[in-house]
Amino acid sequence: MHLETLPENPALPIRTPQVFPTHAGKSFLVTGAARGLGRAVAELLLAQGARIALLDILDEELKATVADLGGEAAGVFGVRLDLAGDPESIAASAASAIELLGEVDGLANVAGVGRQAPPLDIPRDAWAQTMGINLIGPHEMSQAVANHLIGRKQGGSIVSVASEAGKIGHVDSIPYGASKAAVINETRMMSEALSKHDINVNCVCPGGMPTAMLKKAAVSYSKIIGGKPEDLYEHMIIHERIGRAIDLPEVARVISFLLSDEAFVIRGQAVNVDAGSTPF
Ligand SMILES: NC(=O)c1ccc[n+]([C@@H]2O[C@H](COP(=O)([O-])OP(=O)(O)OC[C@H]3O[C@@H](n4cnc5c(N)ncnc54)[C@H](O)[C@@H]3O)[C@@H](O)[C@H]2O)c1
Repeated sequence: MHLETLPENPALPIRTPQVFPTHAGKSFLVTGAARGLGRAVAELLLAQGARIALLDILDEELKATVADLGGEAAGVFGVRLDLAGDPESIAASAASAIELLGEVDGLANVAGVGRQAPPLDIPRDAWAQTMGINLIGPHEMSQAVANHLIGRKQGGSIVSVASEAGKIGHVDSIPYGASKAAVINETRMMSEALSKHDINVNCVCPGGMPTAMLKKAAVSYSKIIGGKPEDLYEHMIIHERIGRAIDLPEVARVISFLLSDEAFVIRGQAVNVDAGSTPF
């Protein structure tokens, strides 16, 4: 065989890579899984061999997603969760999901909300809502899953979804940025607390992604700073360095990796998944 005949720089199908059964025999809880990034994470974990419990507050969308993914026969369960609810209801949702799966190997804390408001006119309830759903509720989910994992004595993993807004933020979305910055710190401390049980805890910091959340944000920003929502939306999702939007599976793959045994020595990190826009 001549050197010239060997392929050079083969084009890699980077946006549609092969899916390996990384999570065969494993079970995970995924919050915010009715739609958006949570659904993408659930779909990927399922494709990689896991059984999954999808948790969300959107009853109808949750039911539809569970059915789309094959339902109980495929090892897919739906459980109602309200992260703004009282601690008992959050613990009860986590317990139901764990019971349905039998035992679990980890948690993807994906659910979250964004609230936009001018920096000097932030309604009190924007703070309460954002901190409750983005920080306190997810922490309580982590507590419930961590207690299960500690009892099981086989380690495990927890991945939360923070945001580039937790590192850089936006002046018209201070509670959101603060809640995500808090998730980064909560991740570091939970990792510190759970490391001795071989439970690795990390978070990801995605950049703007094309989801319902960002469309809603574009409408709110246009009311605060002017401009057309569609222009603002495009500005938020098209990433300068790659000239396109980030695909949800591109973020889901990082979350899946951090949930896997392969990431055993990655602990307490906040991993940017933002096409290079955050330099730290
Ligand atoms: N879209 C972005 O640009 C972007 C960027 C960085 C980080 N994030 C984060 O990614 C995660 C997923 O967001 P998304 O973009 O897929 O948005 P999305 O609105 O499509 O999905 C969020 C999900 O969370 C669920 N949820 C909201 N409130 C809840 C509650 N009280 N209890 C239970 N579930 C609740 C929603 O029903 C929904 O299914 C969020 O944590 C978000 O902050 C999003």
